Amino acid sequence: MNREKWLITGGAGYIGTHIADLFIADGKDVVLLDSLYQGLSSRIDYLCKKHNTDIPLEVVDIRDYTAIENILENNNFSGIVHTAALKAVGESPLQANANSVQIQTPALK
Ligand SMILES: NC(=O)c1ccc[n+]([C@@H]2O[C@H](COP(=O)([O-])OP(=O)(O)OC[C@H]3O[C@@H](n4cnc5c(N)ncnc54)[C@H](O)[C@@H]3O)[C@@H](O)[C@H]2O)c1
Repeated sequence: MNREKWLITGGAGYIGTHIADLFIADGKDVVLLDSLYQGLSSRIDYLCKKHNTDIPLEVVDIRDYTAIENILENNNFSGIVHTAALKAVGESPLQANANSVQIQTPALK
């Protein structure tokens, strides 16, 4: 049986890396997607060492429809966990909303 493969947006963020940690421990493959606007690649390095595996990271902004479509077309994902977001006080609520909404359109086609 094929292993499940999940896309985790915000995969270099706090919540995203914790989800990735649990998914890998559960035998799932993960592809992390993050603009690295707030994310830390050092968190991914830590996970690679912990699980003794390579973890693909797509450095992409979720508002880049073309890049997202290419990633979805080139992978047979079992599902997507969407944690890419702007959460800091002071960041525009409108910008945060755009971040949250725009992943849905290409991902759900
Ligand atoms: N941290 C918590 O305790 C907590 C609790 C409940 C809910 N949440 C929610 O979970 C979500 C993630 O929170 P977090 O703590 O992991 O935040 P975080 O800032 O650590 O992670 C968010 C990640 O999203 C990335 N990102 C932001 N905009 C992006 C874009 N346009 N394209 C690609 N990547 C982008 C950032 O670079 C960052 O790595 C938020 O919606 C937050 O409100 C967090």
